[in-house]
This record gives sequence, structure tokens and C-alpha cells, in this order.
Amino acid sequence: MPTVKAPGKLYIAGEYAVVEPGQPAILIAVDQFVYATISQAKKGLVSSKQLLGQDISWTRKNDQLQTAQATSKFAYVLKAIELTERYAKEQNCQLSTFKLQLDSDLDSPDGKKYGLGSSAAVTVATVKALAAYYKLALTPLEIFKLAASAHYLVQKNGSLGDIAASSFGGWIAYHSFDRSWLLQALKDHSLTELLKLTWPKLQIEPLKAPPRLRLLIGWTGSPASTSNLVNEVALSKEERQRKYDYFLEQSMLCVSQMIAAFKQQDLEMIMQQLARDRELLRSLETFSQVTIETPKLHQLITLAQKFGGQAKTSGAGGGDCGIAILAKERPLNELLSAWRQAGITPLSFNIYSTLDRS
Ligand code: PMV
Ligand code: MG
Repeated sequence: MPTVKAPGKLYIAGEYAVVEPGQPAILIAVDQFVYATISQAKKGLVSSKQLLGQDISWTRKNDQLQTAQATSKFAYVLKAIELTERYAKEQNCQLSTFKLQLDSDLDSPDGKKYGLGSSAAVTVATVKALAAYYKLALTPLEIFKLAASAHYLVQKNGSLGDIAASSFGGWIAYHSFDRSWLLQALKDHSLTELLKLTWPKLQIEPLKAPPRLRLLIGWTGSPASTSNLVNEVALSKEERQRKYDYFLEQSMLCVSQMIAAFKQQDLEMIMQQLARDRELLRSLETFSQVTIETPKLHQLITLAQKFGGQAKTSGAGGGDCGIAILAKERPLNELLSAWRQAGITPLSFNIYSTLDRS
């Protein structure tokens, strides 16, 4: 019974701008996972430890899954199954009946959600499980392409940077692809062709952090809805086109310089650009009137700066996590206890990299 896993993610820089095709962002994969176990079965079943009693049983008709129950909670999983099976069939695999069991570190039983991208990780885990089941040797880029297609067909917004981080692991530089192109390409091409095609504007590149870089994650205790925040920013975009364009241009410049700083292993430049990106997000917040840096996230940032680091919101903000970068030679404990006193929980997650997993 193969079990596969897909990591959660955090944004480091480039948020909101990366929703526009071609814009860059930097992300990490964290060692918190969605697990998927798959095995052949007489009756088709999809279940999740986090959704006890809400299992979905299925049968297959003309190669399509037919489900008896309401499926909205498993929408990403079912779309990922559908696309990966379609691809498997194109590869001449004989489709068969299986049960797929999901389990997640990303939605803890006490309801804590850190904003690590559970829908992205569940989509990637499902693609990986089906690939293992049908013995498809998929590269990280192919996993990304299938999972990004499934996720976008369900959610219909977002940059898919979270899917890239979950598919590749480690630190990555991600340039988002043209999603209107994808919708058309899904109609015009087989999945086999789609996986071979170069996707317009897509770039995913692994990065290496300088050895002196220490990444800290602070959780503010309040969950936020990324999808709502992204839609709110999009609404305000038309009225404020000029400011929005300037934001995009500056974010592109800032994140590109940060990517270059990673390549030069220049920690000071990375930190400088992190601070710059935070200012850009604050300007976006002002002209779009969407709250990104909540009072708690503001405190998280100010305290990190007080102890010699740089910090910013991570992802859509509005709650969830903030991240800080601090040189390893700097004392750590003062900052961690200052965060704790302010009601910010340091999360001791590590970067999950498939490359150095031995
Ligand atoms: O809140 P998160 O960690 O899911 O990140 C959202 C990042 C945005 O750029 C705001 C949206 C996106 O899809 O890239
Ligand atoms: Mg979030």
C-alpha cells in the first residue's frame, strides 16, 4: 500500500503580484504534510482522517468516477483523480478501483490552521498517489502541471505558487503562468501533450539559502481566507490601475533582486529586499483597502526588526503566519520570547527538501 506525502508551503516574497502571469515569488516547502495512501479495492472509496464519517464511495462508469454523496469537501481530490486518471489512460494504463485515504498535518484536530496551503498539498498528494498506483514516473514539473490544472479548475483563482512549492520542495523562485492560456490548452490538447508543452511565462527554479540564513515562522493565531483576500484586491484593481501597475513593477524588481541575492548567497541583500517587499505590500494595503498586515503581524515584524532581523507577512496575510529572517550569529531567544509575550507562536517547522533527503 504505497503512502506518498506532499508538503505544505509558505510564501517568502512576491505575494499578490504573483497572481498576475509572469510575476515572480519566492516560496518554501515546510515539513508538514498531507499523506495519501492508495490500494486496490473492491469498492471505490475516498476518505480523510480529518473528515471522519464523510467518506465518498464511488463506482466507475465509462472511465468516469460516479459518486453517491455530496463531494464539495473533496473537490480538489476528485479533480486531481480525474486528471491523473485521464493522463494514465492516455499512457495505456488499465483503470481500476482503489481506495484513497488522506491524512493531514496541515489541519490539526484542534482546528488550528496555519495557512500552509492544505488544498494545494492535498491536490499534489492525490496526483502523487495516483501516479504511484498506475506506475507513472512523473517529474516534479509534471506533478506540478497536473496538480495546478486540477487546482485551478476547482478554485479558479490564485497563482498556483503553493502547488509549485509542494511539488518541488525546498526554496523555489516561481513565475506564474498564464491561466487563461491553460483553460484553452486543456480543451485543445491531450494531457500528454499539455505536460510536454512549455507553459507561457511559467518558471520554477530551486534556490539555495545562504548558510547564515535563519528562517523564523510566527503564527498569529487567527486564520485568514486567502481566496477572499485575493478577490478583494482584484476588485479594487480597476479603480486604482496606475497604483496597481506601479506595485507590480516594483514587486517584480524587488523579487528579482532577491532571487539574484540568493544566487550570490548575499544574506544582507535578501534581508533588504524582504523589508522592501513588506513596504510594497503595505502600499498595496493602503490603496486597495484590504487588511494584510494585521496588528499582530505588525508586532511580529517590529519585534523581529528590534532584534536585528527583517520580517513580513507571509501569503495573503490578514492573519495566519509571518516570516522573519535573522542571521544565524544573532541571538535567537530574545526574539522568540518577545514574540511569545505578544501572543505570537513560533512554529518550529523545517524546510522540506527532497534533494537532501537521504
Ligand atoms: O495565504 P497564502 O499563503 O495561501 O498565500 C497567498 C498568496 C497570494 O499571492 C496572495 C495569492 C496567490 O494565489 O498567489
Ligand atoms: Mg494565508
